[in-house]
Amino acid sequence: MSGLRRGFATYTVRVAQFQAAQADTVIAPSLLAADFARLAEAADAVEGAVDWLHVDVMDNHFVPNLTLGPPIVKSLKAATDIPLDCHLMIEDPARWAVGYAELGAYNVTFHAEASDDPVALAKDLRAAGAKAGLAIDRDTPVEDYLDLLPEFDTLLIMTIKAGFGGQQFIPAMLDKVRTARARAASGHLELRIEVDGGIADDTIAAAAEAGADAFVAGTAVYGADDPAAAAERLRARADAARSPH
Ligand code: DX5
Ligand code: ZN
Repeated sequence: MSGLRRGFATYTVRVAQFQAAQADTVIAPSLLAADFARLAEAADAVEGAVDWLHVDVMDNHFVPNLTLGPPIVKSLKAATDIPLDCHLMIEDPARWAVGYAELGAYNVTFHAEASDDPVALAKDLRAAGAKAGLAIDRDTPVEDYLDLLPEFDTLLIMTIKAGFGGQQFIPAMLDKVRTARARAASGHLELRIEVDGGIADDTIAAAAEAGADAFVAGTAVYGADDPAAAAERLRARADAARSPH
């Protein structure tokens, strides 16, 4: 075999290994940007084009905004088969988070800033049948939480300040994504790294290159005329940025 061919064969094997190790891209439209009187229709509009539905729970204490809680999550669960990705921006998650798992949420993410004992809550969430997610807000360093990552399925890194949709993406947050991805790789962790805030056609590639593999998008999906097509476009951009080149 010529040197060139051998080089190509090695490259092909490496690409295959990389692809085998890499989890599929997750696109999670945020219902925060949908019409709250038509949430079931919003779910139907992206059925088949997305992986999770992102549900932003805000309590007017942890963040100034107020959105929805368990009764609406219960109704959503009955209205759609898309896995629900509940992002709890609430105080006292130890009191409330397991309830979302019991309602059938696929992934329940609570904020590190609101929790005294994140590891205990992660265990409770997993015991209740959900994936456990830890969220890190804009002003929180990720370094403080790296040692906890083996206890979690998802790390959500805010790329805005939590509380409102439609804000501008903050590129400096991607340093946290790189740090977390390096730790996940060195620790052989199966960790979803989810980015949330300002994810759109012009920002998703940078987040994917930094190591994110789950992408929340509110305005970019539900602000579009065709939400499913918008989600598919986002996926194509993320996949292109994540593939080896
Ligand atoms: C804000 C929420 C986000 C929000 C993102 O605190 O956590 O999920 O819906 O909205 P966009 O994608 O419009 O920035
Ligand atoms: Zn969110």
